[in-house]
Amino acid sequence: MPLNIVIGAQWGDEGKGRITDLLAAEADIVARYSGGDNAGHTVTIGEEVFKLHLIPSGIIHDAVTCLIGNGVVVNPKVMLRELDALAARGVDVSPDCLKLSENAHLITPAHIALDQARELQRGAGAIGTTLRGIGPAYTDKTSRQGLRAGLLADLEELADAIHAHVAAHNEVLTKIYGAEPLDADAVAAEYAGYAQRLAPYLTNGSLILDEALRNGRSILAEGAQGTLLDIDHGTYPFVTSSSPTAGGALTGLGVGPKQVGEVTGVAKAFTTRVGSGPFPTELEGEMADRLRGTGENPWDEFGTTTGRPRRVGWLDLAILRHAHLVNSLTNLAITKLDILSGIPELQVCVAYELDGRRIEYFPTNLKTLARCRPIYQTLPGWSEDIMGVRHFQDLPANAQNYVNFITTQLGIPASIISVGPARAQTIFMR
Ligand code: IMP
Repeated sequence: MPLNIVIGAQWGDEGKGRITDLLAAEADIVARYSGGDNAGHTVTIGEEVFKLHLIPSGIIHDAVTCLIGNGVVVNPKVMLRELDALAARGVDVSPDCLKLSENAHLITPAHIALDQARELQRGAGAIGTTLRGIGPAYTDKTSRQGLRAGLLADLEELADAIHAHVAAHNEVLTKIYGAEPLDADAVAAEYAGYAQRLAPYLTNGSLILDEALRNGRSILAEGAQGTLLDIDHGTYPFVTSSSPTAGGALTGLGVGPKQVGEVTGVAKAFTTRVGSGPFPTELEGEMADRLRGTGENPWDEFGTTTGRPRRVGWLDLAILRHAHLVNSLTNLAITKLDILSGIPELQVCVAYELDGRRIEYFPTNLKTLARCRPIYQTLPGWSEDIMGVRHFQDLPANAQNYVNFITTQLGIPASIISVGPARAQTIFMR
C-alpha cells in the first residue's frame, strides 16, 4: 500500500483537514510533514468542531496512528495544549496513537519573539505571518543551529542547548531589534516540563513509515498550508518557510518517491488567502462579503489560527495548473461548492493577459505576476441548496457544469466534492 499525499492547491485553508479526515478512514497512519501551528484544521464531527493546529487530524479516528514528521516545527506548548483538549473529549492521544519524529525541530519563545520583531521591522512590507515563530525556527534549522525534538529525551542536553539558543537569540533581539531579552533559565525550566511529558512520544519517523509500508499499511501524508505558500514554488517572499508541496512530503517524512500513490490536490471552489502578497482574482465589496461570510459560522472565511478575515476571490485555474505542475496531482478534492449556491453568474479565471499576451501558467515572479490581468470565463450559477446532495448526478446541471469545467480545463479528475461542513456532506466521485 502506498503513501498518498494531500496537498493544498491554493494559498492554504482549502479544507485539507476535512479531506484528510475523510481519507484517514482508509489509512493506517496519518503523518504531518511540514509547517507548524501556523496551520489550522477545522474538522466537524457530529455537533463537535475540532480545531487542530499541529496534531494530524487523523487523530480523531480510533484505528489511525498519527505521526508529526521531521519536516514539522513543533511548539511543545501548543502540542501539549492540543493533547489535553483532545484527551478531554475522549480522544486517545497516548504514545501508541501519536508519535513525534525526533528530527522535527522545536519552536521556542525566542523564535516567536524574533518573528514578531521581524514583522514589526518590515513595516508596510510585512508578510503577515501568523507570528508563531515558524520562519525563525526554519531559519535555525537550515543554518544548522536548530533544536531538534530528540533533545527532549535528555534533560541535561536540553538545558544546555536552550541556554545557548536563548543567549544567541537575545543578542539579535536586543542589539538588532531593540526588543526585550528572554530569561534563559525560565525558558529552560519551561522546556524541561514539556520534555517530561513529550519524551514518550519521540520516535524515528522514517523507520516507522518504512516498516508500515513493508507491512502493506497505507500512509496518508497530511499537508499544511498550500502550494502558493511553498518557500520555493509559492509567491515568495509572501510564503511560509517550509515546503507544503509533494516534494516536501517526501523530505518531511523521510520516504522515497517510489512509494507515492495518489496526490490529492485540495482546492476551494473559489480562492482565498490570508496575509499579504499578490492575488490576481481578488474581490472586494458585496461579492467578497458574500463569499467570506460573516464569521458567525466555523466555516466562514476567517483564519483558524489568527481569526483574521481571509481575502477572497474567484477561482483561478492558472493557480491550479501551477499546483498540478509542481505536485503531479492525480485527483482533485473540490471543497465548499455549496458556498457558490445562489450566485447567478460565476467567474472563473482561465488565463492571464500579460503584456498583451495570453498566458495560462502562473508566474511565481511577483513583478511578472503584478502585470497579469485575469481573463474570466462566465459560467451560469445555480440557485438550489446543494448541501443535501450526495451523488454528482443529483447536483443542479450548472453545478455539475462548474465542476466539469474545472476538471476538463485542468485534465485532472475530481475524486471528492464537499457541499457542507459535516463529514456526510460529501460527494465521492469514484
Ligand atoms: P508563517 O507561516 O506564520 O511564517 O506565515 C507566512 C505566510 O503564510 C503568511 O501569509 C500566513 O498568513 C500564511 N500562512 C501560514 N500558515 C497558513 C495556513 O495554514 N493557512 C493559510 N495561510 C497560512
